[in-house]
Amino acid sequence: MYLGLDLGTSALKALVSDNTGNIIAEASEEYNVYYVANNGTEQNPLDWINALDKILKKLKPFLSNIEGLAISGQMHGLVILDKEDNVIRPCILWNDGRTIKENNELNKYKEEIYACCSNISYAGFTLPKILWLYNNERTNFAKIAKIMLPKDYLIYYLTGEFVSDYTDMAGSLLLDVKNRCYSQKMLNIAKIKEEQLPKLKESYDVVGKVLDNICQKYNLNNNCLVITGGADNALAALGTNTISEGTCNISLGTSGTILMPVKKVPKLNSYGVHIFSHITGSYVMGCILSAANCRKWWLKNIIADEDYSLDEKQMLESDTTNLYFLPYLQGERSPHNDPLAKGAFIGLTNTTTKGAMSKAILEGVAFALRDSLEIVKESNIKINTLTLCGGGAKSKLWCQIIADVMNLEVKTLANEQGPSFGAILLVMLGLKKITFSDLNKFIKYDKVYYPNNNYEQKYQKYKKIYPKLKEIFKD
Ligand code: XUL
Repeated sequence: MYLGLDLGTSALKALVSDNTGNIIAEASEEYNVYYVANNGTEQNPLDWINALDKILKKLKPFLSNIEGLAISGQMHGLVILDKEDNVIRPCILWNDGRTIKENNELNKYKEEIYACCSNISYAGFTLPKILWLYNNERTNFAKIAKIMLPKDYLIYYLTGEFVSDYTDMAGSLLLDVKNRCYSQKMLNIAKIKEEQLPKLKESYDVVGKVLDNICQKYNLNNNCLVITGGADNALAALGTNTISEGTCNISLGTSGTILMPVKKVPKLNSYGVHIFSHITGSYVMGCILSAANCRKWWLKNIIADEDYSLDEKQMLESDTTNLYFLPYLQGERSPHNDPLAKGAFIGLTNTTTKGAMSKAILEGVAFALRDSLEIVKESNIKINTLTLCGGGAKSKLWCQIIADVMNLEVKTLANEQGPSFGAILLVMLGLKKITFSDLNKFIKYDKVYYPNNNYEQKYQKYKKIYPKLKEIFKD
């Protein structure tokens, strides 16, 4: 059996599969995101370890048969340990917006940075956070012995090995994505040394065995191998067979991403989307910071009724003509790179219903992702197949809206497991049970959504809203 873990923003999720990839058990454990001053978001790495402990206890009946495990992780988070391996401060997350000053400073040299990393700086990337620490928490900065990404912390806990992989490190702004190695220039800018960073491996490389004391505690097979794992977006892409050029995956999780693999690092017409390392090759990706999170915020915090099926029904009966929603609840990443951007409803009237506002939220998220697709299309990257995964894909209406707004056929998957299923496939690749050409055997499609509503005019109007509000957000 194999174990796939996904260290998400809201929960740690686990899947156990048999040796043919059939899911035989699953478990998940939630933890908090702490919203702190200056648009900051943090998590305590020890909460991840507690969640792992609970999950391993829940899955104990299966663990003596686990041959290998891999972890997928939320990207960009800054985890720092001192020389005794204590966590120095809470992890600063991927959607944290506190580094405005550092980010602006870095992007004064965006051409040079782009030449090193194939990306410009974004507030949520790891390097601006290291500089923020240097500027604001010098004592903590001075204590740093190890810098790692969230999933690397779990690997370190499980194996004692200080390693990371290219897919995850690509989002740090410390990696030369083209040459798959650390960029010395960027390390100098961050004022850090390579020995403070994890050793880089391929996502499918074996790291080693799980430590004896952990195997004993959970009755885990003491020959269980840990595979390096990767960024959640790369592993979600693996789980939907979005590995070769021409394929595209949209993930509607807390964040929203649109990801397209490319054979070679391309020359894009804009800095608005990222170029990251994939499990093989690279991919181009646009990321918005709030996707399914917008719907959750609306139903949980504002409407205080999380009846998703009622919401779905109300949306189907609602008209959203002239009603718009900007989904920038946590600032904006692609393509505007504006941590100060905010969410907004535009076009409310006395007759606007809750259903219409819910539907405008789904449309707004789709429009924000379309902004990234536009950049990709301008750069002549072709898309032949589009899959949709993540919690948001459970909404049939949202799937249809994505097909309409992107004007592309959308396929959903039968077992909508996202990155944790990608982690299972990675274990199978790592243990050499399968090769990349076998991946399509594991993909079971559920439904196909064909574009049939024309959203073109509405999208063109949507595009005009952010530039008009930008200055107001800034003030
Ligand atoms: C990608 C990104 C998010 C996180 C969410 O660049 O920041 O998708 O990986 O877990």
